[in-house]
Amino acid sequence: MNNAISIVIFGASGDLTERKLIPALFNAFCKQRLPEQFNIIGVSRSAFAHEDFRSKLQEKAKEFIGKTYSDDKWNEFAPHLWYHSGDAQAAGDYEKLDSFLKEVENNAATVNRLYYFSTAPALYAPIVQNLGNTGMADESNGWRHVVIEKPFGNDLKSAQELNKLIHKVLNEHQVYRIDHYLGKETAQNILFFRFANTIFEPLWNRNYIANVQITVSESVDVGHRAGYYDQSGVMRDMFQNHLMQLLSLIAMEPPISFNADDLRDEKAKLLKSIRRIDLDNTVRAQYRGYREGEGVAPDSKTPTYAALRLLIDNWRWRDVPFYLRSGKALAEKSTEINIVFKCPPILLFERTPGEDITSNRLAICIQPNEGINLKFETKVPDSLQDTRSVRMGFEYDDYFADEPLPDAYERLILDAVKGDASLFSRADGIEAAWELIDPVIAGWENDPTAPKLAQYEPGSTGPVEGDTLLGLDGFIWHRGCSDQVRKIDE
Ligand code: BG6
Repeated sequence: MNNAISIVIFGASGDLTERKLIPALFNAFCKQRLPEQFNIIGVSRSAFAHEDFRSKLQEKAKEFIGKTYSDDKWNEFAPHLWYHSGDAQAAGDYEKLDSFLKEVENNAATVNRLYYFSTAPALYAPIVQNLGNTGMADESNGWRHVVIEKPFGNDLKSAQELNKLIHKVLNEHQVYRIDHYLGKETAQNILFFRFANTIFEPLWNRNYIANVQITVSESVDVGHRAGYYDQSGVMRDMFQNHLMQLLSLIAMEPPISFNADDLRDEKAKLLKSIRRIDLDNTVRAQYRGYREGEGVAPDSKTPTYAALRLLIDNWRWRDVPFYLRSGKALAEKSTEINIVFKCPPILLFERTPGEDITSNRLAICIQPNEGINLKFETKVPDSLQDTRSVRMGFEYDDYFADEPLPDAYERLILDAVKGDASLFSRADGIEAAWELIDPVIAGWENDPTAPKLAQYEPGSTGPVEGDTLLGLDGFIWHRGCSDQVRKIDE
């Protein structure tokens, strides 16, 4: 069968195209992972000649592709790039687009198509409808897959409506709801770490684990994205998708196989077993100076930081608190998961006065400093009974220096081309995540007893309220992935 492909990017003048999509496709091309016959067609309203589109992308490619960029390779890649100007909302423009696609496809009888929605979310529904109305989603002459960027919906209701509309036009096997965190090697490795080994899984439950901490800390502030961010806030921007996905990978049961539906069945089951979040178990905060940013309402209550305490009502996790936090303008960019094991029931050895028995901790370092660290206690040499925390560590660089971590988009686009949806969200998973997050956002906005919006200093580790959330349970946030930890444990 002919495996020629057209990759159509709606919203091609946006910054995702030049920052992520084209670099990912270029790298896939260099690794010979794209079909021999492929075309990439950028669509958006602005007028561009094909050549101008190519040179604009080339400029950015040099900046974003980094070491793997080469002019020679670009010159081979560029003739596959095309531009078509069209309005995603204008029904009439789709027929013109279809004719243009057929032209670049040389009117071949069978060509597969990947439609990538990189537009404003309000355009997702009209694009789907128009693809349906013009027969462009019909699979009789090759498969038709759509990749839909986040945010998928603005709340539960809008996500359900969007899913309903999508399912009128497309079968679920055609839909790829992207969450780039799932394309990160280190996030994918969570399931390999858990299920390709036997050491940890027997301990991976309420009998041995005291709490689990997921931190997605960003040093960047909202910058030029305020127009979007001020309407969205950290819960919609980070929790509903990325944090919920990391939580699912850490806490889900083993799937019966690694295929897309078996995996996503388990993830959906996990999300559905999370107890409705009590507002007292939430913290929301905004960094000082946020309201002065361009495009931010002067009285904005949009949180740029949040922390949650979650409980999972199943046999494995009952009563184990999961703490999740994420924020912008924090001290450091770091995404890490710390599994805090229970302390030994009795300590036989003397401790230095004032020091508690410390627990073992496993830190899964998603980015940067990719790796895994295990902290355990050891006897201090030449002491009678002193113990000290030490680290057993795995760093990607030590083992995979010649296999640099690919960008998440590269893997995800290729999976959508292959028709493997394992690393994409299914309709029920997206809705289950909204079901948890929606009441928190609504409570913050409407419930007078909800915790007030706290403030924190840019460059800090977040508001003190974030620490109190764990403090009340007798825990503190751990950092198992920082540069210092590689030398000595904190
Ligand atoms: C995006 C959010 O989905 O993820 C951004 O919209 C955030 O606000 C980004 O900065 C973080 O991604 P990464 O890969 O840099 O951790």
